Amino acid sequence: MVPLLEDINGRAAAILGDLADVVVHDIYDPLGARLYDAVALQDSHELREMIAIARRTTGPILELACGAGRFTLPLLALGREVTAVDLSPSMLAILSDRMDSGYAHLWRNLTLVEADICDFNPEQKFSTVIFGCVTVSLLDAGARRRLFQNMTSVLAPEGRFFLSTTVTEGDASLNTPGTPIENVQLVKDSAGTRYCLHEYIVADRSVREITLIPEDTYTSGPVDVFTTAVRVLPPDQLVTELQENGLAVLNTHPVRTPGSAHEIVILEVGLHA
Ligand SMILES: C[S@@+](CC[C@H](N)C(=O)[O-])C[C@H]1O[C@@H](n2cnc3c(N)ncnc32)[C@H](O)[C@@H]1O
Repeated sequence: MVPLLEDINGRAAAILGDLADVVVHDIYDPLGARLYDAVALQDSHELREMIAIARRTTGPILELACGAGRFTLPLLALGREVTAVDLSPSMLAILSDRMDSGYAHLWRNLTLVEADICDFNPEQKFSTVIFGCVTVSLLDAGARRRLFQNMTSVLAPEGRFFLSTTVTEGDASLNTPGTPIENVQLVKDSAGTRYCLHEYIVADRSVREITLIPEDTYTSGPVDVFTTAVRVLPPDQLVTELQENGLAVLNTHPVRTPGSAHEIVILEVGLHA
């Protein structure tokens, strides 16, 4: 769905309201994917923990919502076979180019699939499924149900499905309704262009709206801005949803996040006994 200027709130909306010509992009569209990738590459938290977890498993790995391959390349570097699935051709194209330019020898272990992870139906079962970067938060309730039901047929009997989510306990900005909360941080794209990353946490704390606006908005053409909405899904809620769909949380793995970032946990999920 193409995002709308009217859906952007708070300080980001005020800044954009003063501009004559704005084009709003989904962060995973062709232009957004490059920016997302550049910003994500500057962030190694969770990657460390997911790779440590993957090292303790054996056999081929199914990676859901692989994006531009931030996790895929290190998984391949471990010598593992990876089936990597994503809906965005733009994100997959970045991964594919990256493979061609520096990691062509690893193609033999990689299967790239452009598909919706909620319906993806591989021919084989997997002992290890990785779903990182809090991407479950991009899925609405119906999509999560389809994904979890799908996992019951994708997972091998003793298989493990690792998914990360944001911890809300102890984070008043995520677990205490009130007025909207806003945070801004500066990030850079691969060319060094600076963007203000606006986080707008809605009053009922159900969603974090993320909007990236170039720091310098003086340009002759339209100003490209990038946005996405990240649901707040506490681990307890996911434990319940997983259970309702034949899956059980067997373990949790904390993620070390930098000071200002929301805390993250990786849920280790298996089939119900
Ligand atoms: C937060 S990014 C994570 C990408 C990558 N795992 C990383 O760590 O950088 C989310 C990714 O999920 C993908 N995505 C969102 N919904 C999807 C769906 N239903 N099926 C497949 N991919 C999806 C997006 O295209 C995007 O590449």
